[in-house]
Amino acid sequence: MRGARTSVPRAVKSSPALVSLGLVIALAAGCRSRSEAPTAEPAASGVAASTSASASAAPTDAPHRVGVRVREGNALARSAGDDALFLADEDHHVLRRIPHDPEVPAAALPLPGAPAQVLVLDDRILVTVRDPGLLLILRYAPATGFVELARVPLPDDAWGVAVTPDESLALVTSAWTHQVSAVDLATAKKRWSIDVPREPRAVVIREDGAGAYVTHLVGPDLTRVFDLDKPTPRSAPLVLAAAPHRAPPGRVLDASLAYSAVLVDAGERLLVPRHALGAIGANVWYGSPTVDVMLTKDDSALAPPHDEAALAQSLGDVSAAYRSSGESRFADPIEAGPEQEIAQPRAAVYLRTRASILIAPEGRDRLFELDALALDPVRSRRAAIALGGGCSAPTGLAVSADESTAYVFCRGSYTLATVHLHEGDSKTPRLESARIVEDALPEAAALGRRIFYDAADTAFSGGLACSGCHPEGRDDGHTYYEANVGAGTNNFLGLPENADGTSPNDGGYARQTPMLAGRVGAQGPYGWHAQDKDLFYRLRAGVELHRWQGNTGGLSYDYRPKLNALMAFVRTGLVPPPRTRRELTAAEAQGKAIFESPETRCASCHVPATEYTDRTAYPLAAMPTLKGFQEEKARDFKTPSLLSVGGTAPYFHDGSVATLEQVIDFNHDRMGKTNQLTKGERVALVAFLRTL
Ligand code: HEC
Ligand code: HEC
Repeated sequence: MRGARTSVPRAVKSSPALVSLGLVIALAAGCRSRSEAPTAEPAASGVAASTSASASAAPTDAPHRVGVRVREGNALARSAGDDALFLADEDHHVLRRIPHDPEVPAAALPLPGAPAQVLVLDDRILVTVRDPGLLLILRYAPATGFVELARVPLPDDAWGVAVTPDESLALVTSAWTHQVSAVDLATAKKRWSIDVPREPRAVVIREDGAGAYVTHLVGPDLTRVFDLDKPTPRSAPLVLAAAPHRAPPGRVLDASLAYSAVLVDAGERLLVPRHALGAIGANVWYGSPTVDVMLTKDDSALAPPHDEAALAQSLGDVSAAYRSSGESRFADPIEAGPEQEIAQPRAAVYLRTRASILIAPEGRDRLFELDALALDPVRSRRAAIALGGGCSAPTGLAVSADESTAYVFCRGSYTLATVHLHEGDSKTPRLESARIVEDALPEAAALGRRIFYDAADTAFSGGLACSGCHPEGRDDGHTYYEANVGAGTNNFLGLPENADGTSPNDGGYARQTPMLAGRVGAQGPYGWHAQDKDLFYRLRAGVELHRWQGNTGGLSYDYRPKLNALMAFVRTGLVPPPRTRRELTAAEAQGKAIFESPETRCASCHVPATEYTDRTAYPLAAMPTLKGFQEEKARDFKTPSLLSVGGTAPYFHDGSVATLEQVIDFNHDRMGKTNQLTKGERVALVAFLRTL
């Protein structure tokens, strides 16, 4: 059953049941022994060991760069001795230690809040905690179990973590509060926090220590941070075009879902897996997954600027691949282009020995291996490995020290998939899958979560699942085009160019993605026009919109139990972002009084008792239709909830206003009455809105 080729001599012993992993779903004959793992980390910095991980894919039995250090956090990480995995278990609020040896018991450390990432150093373990925002510094030893060394308070929603090559400094992103902070690891004290754009997530520190790159879940730019060692660092937006060669002519694409970034090729390239909104390909209404490549020597994009001939070639490739599959044009939009399968890229790691990257996409139960040195890595796929065991929503990814084994944490099924990359053939390597723990959610909501993430459920998703536009129940900041794509059906498009060229398309109505977490408790109505009487009908309408050409019949079976499960998940499983837990400041209190005053009338529509909305659609004085969108006759839009409104820019149904300050300044008595407000009163009103 085992493939003949393994990269490390293994001490084989027969393995009893995987007691430490609980219920074993599928288990191939194990070969688990601590002696098989290289235990010694190199004394020098891991950077030196990676110097020649260059161009040609090294044979798999090349000398191992044993223990090359991982410097970026992930939901899943291997222990320093490579004898166990650590899992930042966001739903159970614990840090788990899952030993490879089934005879060693698993350990779980309760945490003060939901963890996001774990990063293992030689003698310490760093864990980010979302709410309250913290960096925990821990140690684990078999004799003592987990020992907490320090707890560093950080801006709320602490998420991504990375360390400098000398491991003296950790950088942490705080997603909702859009900050990047530095923690001195010698003193366990915060050095600084700086403000960055919306939803910073992955942070990667250069191999030369000269600054860091931060990705954002919303928008196409990265953030470059300079002068990490100074008391006040600098930061600047860094333009990295999303899938430039797949952009329609003349367009610069919006992007989303940049949860991860990896340095490859001895730090010469930064790879950013994400979603390119509106990228074109065969039958993609929403755009395309992409891995954008940046050269770190001058922070320039590897892909050349958009070129029509190259684009025609690239589209030719897609349709050729599609034609050769022998399917009709609309038969299976998900399988249309090879890159579409990498739906909602989430975790990524670099395999130095193979010069490839592994990507676990949240929307599929597969692990992808891509050529890390390709111009367009998503088109240079080496393997797509089915993860089995009912894997749903892959979230965490780690590899063994010798890079022979990949571990994937599937959050939707609470399973751990162990992929022996060198055993079996490269497309179907040997695989084990084991349940880690029972889901934290009740059964219906747990099923709802699997649907929420699953881009391959053809009834509920047309290739991009709910979490592709509402990541973690938040929003992608994008304004979609609700377009008539023929046969009387309206569908969402990332850009008008995503429409099938034969169908009438005059742009489409502007539909900005709303945030869901904490905002879907009410009976209804839902939708920007308050067109759906309750959540059930909104979800049913939604699944017809997020695809090609209406629902292709997927909902013809009894969909009710699944829709109910989805409702249970969006109402009870989505976690609202951290909220201000302090008394209002004087300015915020003044803003509250203004908001509630009969003069401004804000609270008459944005009713505080009901999520700051009266759920009624009003025909506010028309604003001009945005360029490129279709003029809409129905001018009435539902009062949106203002809960968490400080973090959901841009604003209005068409995303036409970039900031809350501008919402007030450009209002001109359109909503309520604001012309009379002084500059100071406007500042106070906005300060109050940010506390909601
Ligand atoms: C292509 C991006 C996209 C996908 C995929 C998507 N949504 Fe949405 N969602 C939107 C947009 C845009 C709107 C606003 C449209 C409107 O109201 O007409 C919206 C509206 C909603 C609303 C109404 C919110 C309110 O306050 O009125 C709910 C609920 C919702 N989506 C849930 C879901 C669920 C559940 C899924 C998965 C089955 C999903 N969405 C998939 C983009 C998306
Ligand atoms: C007549 C009802 C009404 C009143 C009064 C009102 N609003 Fe609104 N508000 C709306 C509607 C409707 C929208 C959505 C309009 C659109 O999308 O085109 C909205 C949108 C907003 C948004 C953007 C939210 C988002 O997520 O896009 C903010 C912020 C806001 N209102 C704040 C206020 C403030 C502050 C006041 C008081 C000065 C106020 N509103 C008064 C109905 C009202």
